[in-house]
Amino acid sequence: MEKSFKKIAEELIQPKKFAFDKDNLSKANKIVQMYPKNFKESSIMPLLTLAQEQNNGWIPKKAIEYISKFLKVSEIRVLELATFYSMYNLSPIGKYHIEVCTTSPCMLRGADSIMLKCKEKLGINIGELSKDKKFSINHVECLGACVNAPVIKINKDYYEDITINTCEEILNKLNNNKKIKVGPQSSRKASEPTKS
Ligand code: FES
Repeated sequence: MEKSFKKIAEELIQPKKFAFDKDNLSKANKIVQMYPKNFKESSIMPLLTLAQEQNNGWIPKKAIEYISKFLKVSEIRVLELATFYSMYNLSPIGKYHIEVCTTSPCMLRGADSIMLKCKEKLGINIGELSKDKKFSINHVECLGACVNAPVIKINKDYYEDITINTCEEILNKLNNNKKIKVGPQSSRKASEPTKS
């Protein structure tokens, strides 16, 4: 089975401390108030998201400890969520973090070839970061846009109806810092029926 992008960053690059900045602290306090006092665990996921956004797209071990203390829940409750969901990264990711959906509908529509194209083109494997730190790849379960399969997600945006050619085009444009069209890469709009 192929490895995924879940390994915890090595000690050498783990920051020595972590705390929410002023903005995130205020957001975190508001999030906690949204849930009943006896359901503190409900705030773990949004707080992990804040920590990840604050730390350039990945969650260091100190942030796991910080959130556990912040919510007064055990560290393992925070860690188990951070390690379960593919949207949380526990080691540095590239400026462009490419997530290829490899669940059945996308697989039937060519996700394997798309993944292969990404690996070949970028010279990295799943779970790796390119030397220039521009790209990283992961494989993920259903991204919830199966009607437009195959789908890849880059940072926060979806790119759908991907073919090997459009995949290559997207990677070239990103490499040259050019704008790319979000959504279906075919001629159809959103998830309307294809003309063919
Ligand atoms: S299977 Fe790929 S988006 Fe659902």
